[in-house]
This record gives sequence, C-alpha cells and structure tokens, in this order.
Amino acid sequence: MEKHLKHPIFKTLADCANQLGVDAYVIGGYVRDIYLERESKDIDVVTIGKGIELAELVHKKLGEEAHLSVFKNFGTAQVKINDLEIEFVGARKESYNRNSRNPIVEDGTLEDDQNRRDFTINALAIGLSKTTFGKLLDPFNGIQDIENKIIKTPLEPEITYSDDPLRMMRAIRFSSQLGFTIEKESLDAISKNKSRISIVSKERITDELNKIILSPIPSVGFKLLFDTGLLHLIFPEMVKLVGVETINGKSHKDNFYHTLEVLDNVSKKSDNLWLRWSAILHDIAKPATKRFEPEHGWTFHGHEDKGARMVPKIFENLRLPLNEKMKYVQKLVLLHLRPIVLAKTEITDSAIRRVLFEAGDDVDDLMALCEADITTKNPNKVKRYLQNFEIVRAKLKELEEKDKIRNWQPPVSGEEIMTIFNLPPCKIVGDLKNALREAILDGMIPNEREAALVFLKNKAQEVI
Ligand code: CTP
Repeated sequence: MEKHLKHPIFKTLADCANQLGVDAYVIGGYVRDIYLERESKDIDVVTIGKGIELAELVHKKLGEEAHLSVFKNFGTAQVKINDLEIEFVGARKESYNRNSRNPIVEDGTLEDDQNRRDFTINALAIGLSKTTFGKLLDPFNGIQDIENKIIKTPLEPEITYSDDPLRMMRAIRFSSQLGFTIEKESLDAISKNKSRISIVSKERITDELNKIILSPIPSVGFKLLFDTGLLHLIFPEMVKLVGVETINGKSHKDNFYHTLEVLDNVSKKSDNLWLRWSAILHDIAKPATKRFEPEHGWTFHGHEDKGARMVPKIFENLRLPLNEKMKYVQKLVLLHLRPIVLAKTEITDSAIRRVLFEAGDDVDDLMALCEADITTKNPNKVKRYLQNFEIVRAKLKELEEKDKIRNWQPPVSGEEIMTIFNLPPCKIVGDLKNALREAILDGMIPNEREAALVFLKNKAQEVI
C-alpha cells in the first residue's frame, strides 16, 4: 500500500502528523481513485483532533509556494500547493438536521467518520501516522465493491440517504461515471426517499446532473434518474418526452429514449457539455407541438423553434448559465433540422450558405448533432442519410472556402451606407443591409466589396 503514497506530499503529511502526535488518514475519493487508477488532485485528510494545527504545520513545512485557508467555524483547513488541494477535517460523528443539509458536528473516531460517508468505495482510508503509514482501513469491504463494481452505502441505505439526500444523485452519478451497479437495497431507498431531494440546492443537483451528462454513456444515469423518479422532480420537461401514442394504427417514437440515444451518440464524438445539452433539449418541445394529422400521421411542426424558446426557462430552473453557453444551445436546438433537410432534398448553394451564416463557427457541432439524431434502425436509411451528410459536409467546406460566410461581416457597413447615400439612421438603411445580405446568401452577387457597392447603388434607386 505504501507504494500508493509515492507522492512526496505524503512524506510531509506523515512527518507533520508525527511531530504533532496526531492520528491522520487520507480518506475518500483520493483513496478510491488510487484503486480505480484515476488521477486525483484533491486529497482529503481526516485527523483525530488537531486538524487545523496539522494544516498550519504542513503549510509551514511546504514554505512559500503553499497557501493556507482556515475555516475556524467549520474546524477545517485547506492547503494548496501547485495543482494539489489538501483538505484537513477532524473526524466527525455526524448527525444531520432533517430539514437541511447542515450537519450537527460532533468529534468522533475514524470509524465514526467512515460510518458517515456516502458509499463503501468512498469510505476507504490509508494511515499517515508512524504506526499506520500506508495501512489500508477498509471496514466495509470497499475494495471488494470496487472490484465487483458495486455502489453500496456503509450503513442502512435509508440512513445514509436521509443524512444527505444529495447522495441519491451521487449514487447515480458514480454509477454512470464508473459503469458501476447500484445495489438493489440502495436503489429502492432512492426511489422511496426521492422527494427528500427538495432540501438540496438546485446548484448542487445540477452539478451532479452535469457530471452524469459528462459520463461516458450518459443514458445510464438518465435511465436511473427516470426509474427512481428523481428525474420527475428535478427535470420534469424531460419526463414529458416519455411515451408512445397510437392513432389509427400509427405510432410515433418514444422521444425520451430517442433523446437518450442521440445524447449517447454525440457523447461518443465530443465531451463538450453544451453540445450534450443541445442533444438533451433538441426535441424538448415535441410533446407541446404534437399533432395527429389523418393524412400525414404524427407531426411536431415548429418543435425546433418552440424548443429554442423553452431553453432559457429550463436553464434558469436548473441554474445553468444564462450566457453564451445558453445561446449556443438555443441555436443548435433551433437549427437541428436544417442539415437533415439539406441531406434529404436537392442541395442548393443558397441553402448551404444560409446554414453557414446562421450556425457560424458552430456549424461543425450542428452537423455532429444532426448526425447523432439519425437513430433509425433501417440500415438502408442510415446509409443514405450518412452519404448525403458527406455531400452536405463537402459543400459546406467548398462554399466556406469560396464565400467566407461562417463569420460573415457585411462587406459594406451600415455607417458606410449612411455616408454613401447621405441618409440618417432610418429603416431604409436596415432594408439595404438586409437586401445586401440576402443577395450574398442567395448567390446573386459574390461576398465582395466592389460587387456589394454596385448592388447597393442599384437597390438604392428602387427604395430611396
Ligand atoms: N462525501 C459524502 N457525502 C457527500 C459528499 C461527499 O460522504 N454528499 C464524502 C465521500 O467520502 C467522498 C468525500 O466526501 O469521497 C469527498 O467528496 P467529494 O470531493 O465531493 O467527491 P469525491 O468522492 O472525491 O468524487 P469527485 O471528486 O468525483 O466529486
């Protein structure tokens, strides 16, 4: 085990613990990640008393490069050095307040502390003091659970989840992130106690949700969220996608499982959180726009437009950022059908230029989303769509090289239009600018200044 504490910081920690005569252990995620062979930069150290003193001594020994923060009220301290963050906490015997996540803190032994941790795989500790250095303390067989890929609570699941309901999200997050199975008793306890999630802040819930979304196969986490009923509470809009309706023998697809397939598909290609969010939300307005038309069957007219308009409220409810990330998701939701329409019909240069103009630099992500949206099981259709996509991609490249539309700036600005035609700021200036843009996108004139000036002069004669 000592071999796992190779990093020189552990020697410093051990020396300091010995100097103060304090019992100290590395605990939690760092130890778990040693066995999972994942690199971790966050070291949690639990001490039996004297946590802050130990942090202060470690800080002193490490010298100039280290930074110390002490949180006297919580009895905790943090030392940062280079990219390492070491948290020092006294061992606790915690009992939580039922209506908040604030624990009532009482000093305890190492065992008390391990008992109060979320999962057996997170309750592992390794000794740092002289007599225990390098020794693994694994009272709940966490190592075996790592080997068997099981998420299990150290105490009765009801107690562990009731102590801190965020752990319900964490169980699902670890399951999705690590590909582990949640033990049945634990899963049942989550379903039973799901409503307790209401005492957890939305920010923390979304933090875990984003980790689920960033996991290798995010549908694993979403299915667990749905099956336990947590999804209904934290993200009801997504649950509305569930279900298949049949009229006159015609059924539409289940948009929840379709969405998860699209999400898994984009996740294979990209770890961009916001592209993954675009996949989650691309069909979010299908339930609201669903119609049955006897001649055509099921339609979802305008779901891309309505979906884009639903994004801000959803982001606000989930405490996601209301900035350019949100705008990016809105744009992708709004445009998600465009490449498929291009791929299905005769491709015109003008339609391609318009997609380039509207998607701008996000056109590659739009193509990735659209390709991920092909979830038909008909191999002939898949082949045809993918072939057409290649044609669309080639055309996008060709026209971009020629016309430079992605970051389009008008070759003649509004100010110049006012000067040339001696106009004050007015509607005519806007009309001329729009006409110029349309002429370039339609390919009537090239995206060049000379041609634009000639075009504007002719157009001005019509409108002024
Ligand atoms: N912990 C807990 N209950 C929680 C949160 C954390 O018992 N609700 C304990 C676990 O022992 C966990 C440790 O505190 O291992 C550190 O928590 P944190 O840093 O949030 O997570 P990690 O387990 O380190 O995992 P990750 O870094 O992936 O978030």
